[in-house]
Amino acid sequence: MFITLEGIDGCGKSTQSERLSAWLTERTGHGTIRTYEPGGYPSGESLRRFILGSRDFSPMSELLLFLADRAEHVNKVIAPALEAGHNVICERWNESTLAYQSGGHRLNVEQVKSLIAACDFPEPDVKLFLDVPPEAAFTRIASRKPDKFEEEGLALMRRVSESYRELAESGYLTRIDCEGKNEDEVFAALASEINAWLSR
Ligand code: TMP
Repeated sequence: MFITLEGIDGCGKSTQSERLSAWLTERTGHGTIRTYEPGGYPSGESLRRFILGSRDFSPMSELLLFLADRAEHVNKVIAPALEAGHNVICERWNESTLAYQSGGHRLNVEQVKSLIAACDFPEPDVKLFLDVPPEAAFTRIASRKPDKFEEEGLALMRRVSESYRELAESGYLTRIDCEGKNEDEVFAALASEINAWLSR
């Protein structure tokens, strides 16, 4: 299986990815690779630092860098893992590009969609959006060193969040309502969606 986890910064993707990975291996009898974007491949750390540190890039340059990063990620990690019969859980994928570069940084959504389509990246089996209120997520990340998106603050997170919700309404993602739920309850909701796909 190929599963992606999406959501605004501080929504709890990494915690859930770790828990889901052990559970999915047990559930399917196949090993599970956990990965993330940007930079989730050997040698990817320098591009990650470059993208998340570059303050003066236009939204279009930013978009092209995220797509280049994804192409490397597919070649080096995602495609080989899926071909070897492993499950893959990836934090962030095409929907991050739609939500942040279009919703957040206001690129034309049709232009972003057509550039993503031209790349022909593998399509995940299940795409899960952890919907945490921006105010709550913002409080969670307040103690860590902000990357360039986090520096833009709550206003950006609200636009990104709204864009994710619109994508979920159009069927791009499955929305998991995390408001007022603890970590175990969110995990149960995510596992239930994956179980539904496995039992289809
Ligand atoms: P994270 O590893 O903490 O999720 O940080 C990655 C940041 O990069 C996050 O703010 C979202 C942003 N991002 C985009 O803007 N577009 C993309 O396509 C991806 C993959 C990430």
